[in-house]
Amino acid sequence: MTYRLRIEPSGHEMDIEANETILEAALRHGYALPYSCRSGTCATCKGKILAGSVDYGDVDEKMLPDEEMEAGFALFCQATPLTDLSIEAREVGAAAGIEIKTLPSRVARIVDLAPEVRALFLQLPSTQEFRFLPGQYIDILLKDGSRRGFSIANMPGPGAQLELHIKHVPGGQFTGHVFSTMKEKDILRFEGPLGTFFIRDDWPERPLLLAATGTGFAPIKGMLEQLFANPDTRDIHFYWGVRYAQEFYYQELLQEWQARHPNFHFHPVVSRPDASWNGRTGYITTAIGADFPQPKDLVAYLCGHPDMVFDLAESLEQSGLDSQYIFSDAFVFAK
Ligand code: FES
Repeated sequence: MTYRLRIEPSGHEMDIEANETILEAALRHGYALPYSCRSGTCATCKGKILAGSVDYGDVDEKMLPDEEMEAGFALFCQATPLTDLSIEAREVGAAAGIEIKTLPSRVARIVDLAPEVRALFLQLPSTQEFRFLPGQYIDILLKDGSRRGFSIANMPGPGAQLELHIKHVPGGQFTGHVFSTMKEKDILRFEGPLGTFFIRDDWPERPLLLAATGTGFAPIKGMLEQLFANPDTRDIHFYWGVRYAQEFYYQELLQEWQARHPNFHFHPVVSRPDASWNGRTGYITTAIGADFPQPKDLVAYLCGHPDMVFDLAESLEQSGLDSQYIFSDAFVFAK
């Protein structure tokens, strides 16, 4: 069974199959709606059903509370049509022309970054163009049909490599393999680029607030490379939170960026400091709240554990930053 889907305010119309999610249909037709996890765990794709009815799919109350569902909201990565539909969603123009591909890659390098964190550098086929925006992610496709999502930690460059930061999850099938038997020249298949977490061009005068926990630094690193590749004089504040100071990595690069770019301000924050740490302590949400009691003029990009991302987004909104200026990529570690 096929229905019609209309996106407002753009007025774009398309077919949608009965077993297809709203997000899948939009992407299939070349229209990017905001999304990240595609599994109902980040709420990035939440939007309003203006007309028609949907099967809401497998939805966690935390991501879509009953009162929001009653007010007409749905998670577009989960909702499938029961009738023709009209929805309200901000289309993401910058991602619209970028083709999502399935490609092979070769493991070019494996580098230890921190205890239990490794970088994988994947070489792309020279015969295939792969376009992406810094901050997007790819899904590694495993032989059993499952997939593992990882952000791309670099900007597109002439070497045609993708850098991923892999956190070892005990018992994890894929990350266990990365930390034991994976070797250079191994072949990995992936799908991408995915997600709509990337720097928007819309407000070049607004200072940037970038915030990450743990390996949430990966997409932020790609965004920073992009920002520093172009003349950009607005202030860029990057808060990086970890539990233990040993979990920071790329410290030399961050120091070099601070030295070279006076508009770049790096704020490392440790929640479980030992005696050797003499920097800031606690959680980044608290640190940002103290530094920016009135954040209404910023644009914020948040990446890391859902608890941090949702808390920080809520705190910024309550302090006066309109939600249109907050972009996030909430993730749990891929296993
Ligand atoms: Fe839909 Fe994450 S909840 S993209």
